[in-house]
Amino acid sequence: MSSLQSDKSNILVNLCKVAAISGIVLYLASVFLFHNPVSEFFPPLRLPFPSSEPDASASPTNISHLMFGILASVKAWRHRKPYTDSWWRPNVTRGYLYFDVAPSGDLLPWSPLSPPPRVSDDITELLKESKHGHPITVRMVHAILELFREEREGVRWYIMGDDDSIFFAENMIDVFGKLDHTKYIYVGCNSESLKSNVDFSFNMGFGGGGFALSYPLAEALSKDLENCFKRYPYLWSADQLTMACIDDIGVSLTVNKGIHQIDLHSDLSGFLSSHPQVPLLSLHHFDLVDPIFPKMNRAESAYHLSKAADVDQSRLLQQTICYYKQNNWSFSVSWGYSAHIYESVIPRTTLKKPLETFKPWVRNTRPPLFIFNTRWVTNDPCEAPHVFFFDSIQKRSVNEVVTSYVRAAPRGLSACSSNHSADYVTRITVFSSATKLDEYGRSECCDIVHVDGEDVAEVKFRACMKDEIIA
Ligand SMILES: *[C@@H]1O[C@H](CO)[C@@H](O)[C@H](O)[C@H]1NC(C)=O
Ligand SMILES: *[C@@H]1O[C@H](CO)[C@@H](O)[C@H](O)[C@H]1NC(C)=O
Ligand SMILES: *[C@@H]1O[C@H](CO)[C@@H](O)[C@H](O)[C@H]1NC(C)=O
Ligand SMILES: *[C@@H]1O[C@H](CO)[C@@H](O)[C@H](O)[C@H]1NC(C)=O
Repeated sequence: MSSLQSDKSNILVNLCKVAAISGIVLYLASVFLFHNPVSEFFPPLRLPFPSSEPDASASPTNISHLMFGILASVKAWRHRKPYTDSWWRPNVTRGYLYFDVAPSGDLLPWSPLSPPPRVSDDITELLKESKHGHPITVRMVHAILELFREEREGVRWYIMGDDDSIFFAENMIDVFGKLDHTKYIYVGCNSESLKSNVDFSFNMGFGGGGFALSYPLAEALSKDLENCFKRYPYLWSADQLTMACIDDIGVSLTVNKGIHQIDLHSDLSGFLSSHPQVPLLSLHHFDLVDPIFPKMNRAESAYHLSKAADVDQSRLLQQTICYYKQNNWSFSVSWGYSAHIYESVIPRTTLKKPLETFKPWVRNTRPPLFIFNTRWVTNDPCEAPHVFFFDSIQKRSVNEVVTSYVRAAPRGLSACSSNHSADYVTRITVFSSATKLDEYGRSECCDIVHVDGEDVAEVKFRACMKDEIIA
């Protein structure tokens, strides 16, 4: 610190002291002079002292500040292992798997590629004491305390999730790094299903997709947890119980739209091709939806997506739209996942709505089904996209990444305008910067580099210009 700065901060400290002392004097005066509760007249005193050591907490957030607690079941682990292994970095990512029973048989010796296993605490006594009627719920919520107890050194965020989820830790570093981990913070997201939010809560982090607790919140929650079970013996949903305990600490949910509970069924491609403009943090229910890439199973799909995630998580699933005016075509790229060509100029405001390729979580519910707008899947050749899926990725140079998307199947429709069919395009090549995308409220722009008649269309991403209108 320069002497000038230290002089300034001394002055600040002194000013704060003066303010604090005069505040205290006023407060005491009010206590003695008025019989009325003083809180009506004076806001509560804010002490001018920082609550924790500034040096340690000011350093940029990195992977070792995140601690994962993954709830798992031994029965499902054999087929779910690839989902977790696809994103887990041994000896780099910190965290544990919490199993219902100890892994045995062919699961031993334990794979070094998976998170270290733990067995959930025996909660028999706790259930008796708390009179809580739902053992599985208590076991799941109690894992927060077990994770907090296990490791605290240097942890800023505790992230709880399920073993049928994929997490994107690099994006979590960037997103959580922008929040103040020294405060009480609860980050999570709603369900995509309107009914699930109505049935459980709009103010709850749906736990499978993961929720994050700042260190002080995890600490407060751990201290109170066993009492909290006594207060809510009737809550059978682990996520609802967690929310109730956090509510009692006075903390509300910070919604992050990159967390995905995936309370949806069947073909997710429409959803994943119009992702909201925030970094992707998680994908849950990987078991309950179709494999996200055609001609691959779920495990292969998880590893395939991780090829793009390993190179650039900041752009993963981020939607970039541009137009090829010569042909009146629209391009929409969901980086690292899919690319669409439409044979007409469709406004961005429409393309940002997911195509409803997926089914609702609960069958036979009445619309509205989702908490976001959708577009119908159609056979209108001017509105139905040619669909391409992520195939390969290459870091071409220090500043350029090339991703390639191949046609999934012939579209099987006539052309929108007889002389501008995109049927002959078999591959879309996308050039993007090797520098992280760090602006999320505004998308990147792109240009189409394509010569009529060639079977490869090339799309170059670039920063949008000041005041640029893309239409
Ligand atoms: C993360 O930052 C801490 C300082 O807060 C540092 O001690 C640690 O070595 C860093 N870890 C990694 C993996 O960069
Ligand atoms: C992790 O670290 C341990 C101890 O340093 C080492 O024995 C092991 O090989 C490492 N595992 C991997 C997958 O790198
Ligand atoms: C593009 O669409 C506009 C508006 O429908 C039309 O006037 C124009 O002729 C079309 N251009 C081409 C190349 O098809
Ligand atoms: C495209 O086809 C329309 C008829 O469908 C025709 O009028 C127009 O001249 C053609 N444009 C080009 C550039 O070939």
